[in-house]
Amino acid sequence: MRVTGIYEGLWENETESRVSGVELGEREKESEAGPKPGTYTKRLTREGMDKFLIRGGKALQGTVEISGAKNSALPVMAAALLTAEKVTLHNIPKVRDLTTMSKLLAFMDAKVSVTEFPASDYVIEAPTLNHAEAPYDLVKTMRASILTLGPLLARKGVARVSLPGGCAIGARPVDLHLSALEKMGVEILTSHGYIEARVPNHGSRRGRLKGARIAFDRITVTGTENILMAAALAEGETILENAAREPEITDLVVLLRKMGAQIEGDGTSTLRIRGVAELHGTEHSVIPDRIEAGTFLMAGAITGGDLTITNCAPEHLGSVIAKLREAGAPIDIVDKTTMRVRGAKKLVASNMTTEEYPGFATDMQAQYMALATQAEGTSLITETIFENRFLHASEMMRMGAHISIDGRKAVVRGPAELSGTTVQASDLRASAGLVLAGLVANGETVIDRVYHIDRGYERIVEKLRGVGAEIERLHGTVS
Ligand code: UD1
Repeated sequence: MRVTGIYEGLWENETESRVSGVELGEREKESEAGPKPGTYTKRLTREGMDKFLIRGGKALQGTVEISGAKNSALPVMAAALLTAEKVTLHNIPKVRDLTTMSKLLAFMDAKVSVTEFPASDYVIEAPTLNHAEAPYDLVKTMRASILTLGPLLARKGVARVSLPGGCAIGARPVDLHLSALEKMGVEILTSHGYIEARVPNHGSRRGRLKGARIAFDRITVTGTENILMAAALAEGETILENAAREPEITDLVVLLRKMGAQIEGDGTSTLRIRGVAELHGTEHSVIPDRIEAGTFLMAGAITGGDLTITNCAPEHLGSVIAKLREAGAPIDIVDKTTMRVRGAKKLVASNMTTEEYPGFATDMQAQYMALATQAEGTSLITETIFENRFLHASEMMRMGAHISIDGRKAVVRGPAELSGTTVQASDLRASAGLVLAGLVANGETVIDRVYHIDRGYERIVEKLRGVGAEIERLHGTVS
């Protein structure tokens, strides 16, 4: 592993597995049943994992600055594998998934340089890639490791990437990534839990990916990104239909163009990529995180606060803004990078269906459910992207929310008076929904397993405290 700067040596000492806690002490066992209001004073949990303690009821007021988009930073870091030259990236959020991606690139022999830890600026150089492999230990902590498959095949002609497997929110297969790569001439075998892929050689000449006409059966974000990166160095033209249109795709296209790629159609569902023989180094700053911005919009609205959200891209939040306005929360677009949200006089129920961009993002569904618990009337929430993404609902119900689930539909009746208890975070965005519920609950809410939220929200505790929330991190003995 070649890592320079402050990361050197740090990773080796880092404890990856946060799930292996030690025996609960009496105090913690008590807290599992729910903290008694005002009695939860211990600051160091004896269990392995960090928790959040929230005292609800504060209206959030002030200004909060949004970080770079995790879901943009992941593909642009993977894209650095496509060139032997230096790629400098800015505005990378300081979250755990990006540290994981750095480890993955370093494992492949790319040189990842940072000047601070955790970093927001990365310099990645991959003059040679001796180890075209994404091992299980890294992939299991971050499914987006699959994003290295396309670049490795384009650059090296071989790749060995662990199959991501399922996750809490559903099976999440990668069949669409693989069948598209097969169309581009890749031979793929899956064995022993790994995708073993190679581009066949032509006589003594190293094989090169071939441009192809690909139509995805369903829209996939990382699938679109993988094919974009593969096609950028392929021989001939690739036409990708039913492609994802997320702003993070456009951000990747902007970076690839700066590297010399020839791509048209970003922002539409048909992408046309003319492969080039080589890509070169560049510098790029990733777009603001629209999910973090949306989460703070919901936080302002649900607590009846007055929040100014800076460094964001309101143009990427059309559906969320429209939905919040429908629910009664006033939102002003102050300028191209600033929004202001105020609490509604009364939040009103409104149905919501998750969709691919520009529809309402599935990554905002849990946060919207928290809001719906406080809205007057019945909200029908339909999840169309993932089959098992209502895990937060049962935790919200334990806090007093009125929710019933039927398959991919959730009916939320509000307003409900939520009361604090101990809840479990099950995935990244579910955790954000629980934080919002905790902000309006009576008394104290303890959120367990916040390693999920640390994967994708930069300094969320500090940012919330900065606008008046009563939230603190209870440090586990393993962190
Ligand atoms: C990305 C985002 C994630 C977001 C999701 C949907 C990143 C790193 N992650 O995840 O935050 O929630 O988009 O907006 O950008 N599918 C298949 N076969 C495939 C690929 C996908 O059946 O080969 C299915 C999935 O199981 C899912 C749906 O397609 O039901 C959409 O998934 P996809 O867009 O691929 O999600 P990710 O790219 O993993």
